[in-house]
Amino acid sequence: MSNNQSDEFRKIFGHFPTGITVIGMSNNGQISGITANSVTSVSLDPMLMLVCIAQKAASHDKLKSAGNFSINFLSDKQKDLSQFFASSSNTDNPMGDFKYRLGNNKSPIFSDVIAWIECSIVDWFPGGDHSIVIGKVSDMKIENASYKPLIYYNGQYSELV
Ligand SMILES: Cc1cc2nc3c(=O)[nH]c(=O)nc-3n(C[C@H](O)[C@H](O)[C@H](O)COP(=O)(O)O)c2cc1C
Repeated sequence: MSNNQSDEFRKIFGHFPTGITVIGMSNNGQISGITANSVTSVSLDPMLMLVCIAQKAASHDKLKSAGNFSINFLSDKQKDLSQFFASSSNTDNPMGDFKYRLGNNKSPIFSDVIAWIECSIVDWFPGGDHSIVIGKVSDMKIENASYKPLIYYNGQYSELV
């Protein structure tokens, strides 16, 4: 694919607004997360979620070996959380100072998110330079239904008006 085409591809998805999540995981007690917007629901019965993770991301192999993950749906007050988890998790302090608790599957659930879903990984497919991860929902809660979502649009954070 030419550079022009990949620019066009990026631009198209830049014009497709999404919500933002942080995917949380635990590897033998090592808690970490990655900011992700390639997240969607797949099936209602059974309840399945899909997350696409770049193969080059440190979280890729962490997620695979964790076997479980959480999806934290961020509010428009959580831009700092999104920015933090959009940089490498390979640091001494991979969770920063953000408040969280561990869910039933031991993945981190952040305070003040709009909602969270816990999943166990049931399928893992190649998807070009990403992997397509299918998670079966094991628990979930909408914590703050009145909060507005953090939006990503045109390479920038945005809010619903
Ligand atoms: C708004 C936004 C959405 C993102 N969505 C994804 C995504 O869906 N999948 C992905 O692999 N990376 C995504 N990223 C990039 C990762 O968050 C970023 O590469 C991160 O540094 C990876 O950290 P790691 O190497 O510790 O896993 C996104 C970044 C931003 C800012």
